[in-house]
Amino acid sequence: MKTADVLIIGGGIIGCSIAAELSRAQVRVLMLERDRIGCEASGEAAGMLAPQAEDIPSGPFLDHCLKSREMFGPLQELLKEETGIDIEYVRSGILYLLLTEDDEFQGRRMFDEQRARGLKVERWDRQQVLEAQPQVTPTVRGAFYFPDDHQVQNARMVRALSILGARRGVQIMEGAPVTGFVQDKDRVLGVRSVAETYYAGKVVIAAGAWSGGIGELPGQQIPIQPARGQLLSLETRGDFFRHILYTREAYLVPRPNGELIVGSTVEFAGFEKHVTVGGIEALLAAARRLVPALGSRPILKAWAGFRPWTPDELPYLGDIPGSPGLYIASGHYRNGILLAPVTGQLMAELLLEEQSSLPLDPFRLNR
Ligand code: GLY
Repeated sequence: MKTADVLIIGGGIIGCSIAAELSRAQVRVLMLERDRIGCEASGEAAGMLAPQAEDIPSGPFLDHCLKSREMFGPLQELLKEETGIDIEYVRSGILYLLLTEDDEFQGRRMFDEQRARGLKVERWDRQQVLEAQPQVTPTVRGAFYFPDDHQVQNARMVRALSILGARRGVQIMEGAPVTGFVQDKDRVLGVRSVAETYYAGKVVIAAGAWSGGIGELPGQQIPIQPARGQLLSLETRGDFFRHILYTREAYLVPRPNGELIVGSTVEFAGFEKHVTVGGIEALLAAARRLVPALGSRPILKAWAGFRPWTPDELPYLGDIPGSPGLYIASGHYRNGILLAPVTGQLMAELLLEEQSSLPLDPFRLNR
């Protein structure tokens, strides 16, 4: 197929979620992925669904995050039923640990703000923390427990979304990098890939950290930069941790298979996909400060991924003014996994010219 109603650039979790959502309608959807589905940040993330631990302030962005968080339960069931894949949505809750006086000060503000917003948060003292997670350092001062912040196995989720879309007729092409746009005056008519030109009624940029470098758009800039995150994983026994542990220095995400993900740095180093001595050293030190017994656990692997960062750290969602036919859903920075369900829904509503469930205006490119 060289023509489509909607062409999506990027086979990460955002592109796959939009494609899966569009597949409920009678539209021909084509997704072009330059490498393999989910092979970048979507597959590399830690999978936390953590608007509360991430301390997202009230406003339209938090509204998107909370709505998306609610969508995971039904989405897990749908994906299991239609693809057979268990995305390991685990309602583990997040324990936000307070280790210093400054943590306690910041924590008090978060607690008051989140309570005022009607979000669930509990204040635990040291004893409660150590009863729930005896491995945590005895110097812990206390914690906040966010019972509604959870986790998902992001690599499985992106695969399941792509399979759901494909089963419903989405055409997916891997190894198909987009090198530029086909335009008539300002209107975008399609894209050029290495071997082909593809035409589409609507083109959506969902290329994560690469979204700003797809092709020339006269008068337009998409100021998305890669913010590298280094992570590593340790082998633990499956029941080592009940909750995700989160501090201002690092987070520990216990996966059902016993793997413990330790994340993550935030670095602006271009597209240098390295793990560094300094990055891994800092993560290991933070993890050991939090849970001294981790010193004896085997290291499984270390890796890095590129979060799509925007100058105000909010995503770009919607049509691109001045380039009719062109849309964007990118720049989700630290929250791409969490936001995939709601972004898929809202972008599908926009592309299908349906009423939007939530406002998109605060997320326009030229805000
Ligand atoms: N969502 C956590 C991170 O980006 O490191």
